[in-house]
Amino acid sequence: MLVAGNWKMNTDVPDGRALAASIAEGLSSASSDLGTVEFLVCPPYVHLPAVTDALADAPVTVGAQDMHAEDEGAYTGDVSAPMLTSIGCDAVILGHSERRKYYDETDADVNAKAQQARAHGLVPIVCVGETLEQRKAGEADTVVQGQVDGALSGVPIDSADELVVAYEPIWAIGTGESAEPEQAQEMHAVIRDDLTERYGTAVADDVPLLYGGSMKPHNAYGLLSQPDIDGGLIGSASLAAESFLGIAEKAGKVLEEARD
Ligand code: PGA
Repeated sequence: MLVAGNWKMNTDVPDGRALAASIAEGLSSASSDLGTVEFLVCPPYVHLPAVTDALADAPVTVGAQDMHAEDEGAYTGDVSAPMLTSIGCDAVILGHSERRKYYDETDADVNAKAQQARAHGLVPIVCVGETLEQRKAGEADTVVQGQVDGALSGVPIDSADELVVAYEPIWAIGTGESAEPEQAQEMHAVIRDDLTERYGTAVADDVPLLYGGSMKPHNAYGLLSQPDIDGGLIGSASLAAESFLGIAEKAGKVLEEARD
């Protein structure tokens, strides 16, 4: 179970450091069993050194929210995979719907970045998800399948810890209206089938499939207890340690019940 925070363009560096420190503090004093829950936070680029430092002793890995597909060059404003690995990043969000919408990122762009992430040992967190119009037209499956295929075509994945896929229905992001657990499960099953065809059962069964879109402490349990939902990619609720850890607690509960 992976609980991942996408801070987007929020907090300044001192506030980001303080948020990371309170997540670390919350985890060290957590009373419930979070032992097998994995944590990741993806702050803005300029926060990465401070956040990595604040989380040095905590069981939380750090990722970026995007990167360029080239190693270096004349790309003003961009950040590359070697830059991210040089400051201890483990993962990178790719193809978030906000990047697709505001920067016209295509599946081909996401694919080039995913290749580059793997070449540098970064775990790509590939985001996919349909619009409300596409869902209403009954196209959600084909849209998401197309995004998964487009992003991962030719990307070598040899083990489950080399990839994360996040299903984020666009209509649920930042709206306070999350998908119903069964609705999300249906889409996660489609993604799992696709990954199975591409990488085989041994890999696909254990690739973490995250749900994202208004996940909060009050709805996390229902979502996380679905068989193909292996965690969350959390936006606004990751901006306060209390709600981020509140979701983690639900993840811990699901894992504990699975063990019993
Ligand atoms: P949200 O964002 O939790 O604020 O809906 C999720 C995301 O965009 O990753």
